[in-house]
Amino acid sequence: MKSDNIIIAVDGPAASGKGTLSRRLASFYGLAYLDTGSLYRGVGWVMLSRGLSPRDVEDAEATAKAFTLEQLDGADIRTPDVGRAASVVAALPEVRDALLEFQRSFAASPPNGLKGAVLDGRDIGTVVCPDATVKLFIDAAVEVRAERRWKELNERDSSVSYEQVLEDIKRRDKRDSTREAAPMKAAQDAHLIDTSMLDIDAAFTAVRREIDKALMKSAMEGQPTA
Ligand code: CDP
Repeated sequence: MKSDNIIIAVDGPAASGKGTLSRRLASFYGLAYLDTGSLYRGVGWVMLSRGLSPRDVEDAEATAKAFTLEQLDGADIRTPDVGRAASVVAALPEVRDALLEFQRSFAASPPNGLKGAVLDGRDIGTVVCPDATVKLFIDAAVEVRAERRWKELNERDSSVSYEQVLEDIKRRDKRDSTREAAPMKAAQDAHLIDTSMLDIDAAFTAVRREIDKALMKSAMEGQPTA
């Protein structure tokens, strides 16, 4: 079922720049923003903080079913440990099912009466919002992504090495793209943007071009024919 909401689906691997881009797009187009990775990170964080193994299917399913964003108040979910736990629970179909409804209702009824939403993640264009107004797949060379993530992490913890971050991202990319449940992949109708050589302003300009074209097309399709 297609709603009248404007939905921008932004998928891509770790540190591809999709989060920064998505936030900027949401503010530019006046849309709500949902970082769906924070839901998987949230479930991973709750499990780690309760001493549960992210690999335990029953515990992971129960945690995902009971999960609310309020549980994350004050939690640091941007650590490498939480990223790994997120990627482990995200491979479980039971966890994905439990989080799907929340993501779909956010897209169907964005908060504050906004006219649509930007959702970023791994399976937004393929599973969560297959009818999105526009789909983007943001990628970059793995070394470039590792460098970006390493700089980010280094501002908080200088003991993390570039090599560790590179290894971690490679392992997570592999797990995310080879799992059976909603693997990370570009939707057939997604626009592929490689940000290896683009700074945030250049990437923003590149994606805006695609979005404006898609919005124009969807506005024309919505017009009554004479
Ligand atoms: O910020 P970063 O790209 O490192 O990761 P994230 O977007 O916060 O996502 C953390 C993990 O959640 C990913 O490695 C995926 O395993 C999982 N995830 C997912 O499976 N599906 C989504 N729609 C979003 C995240």
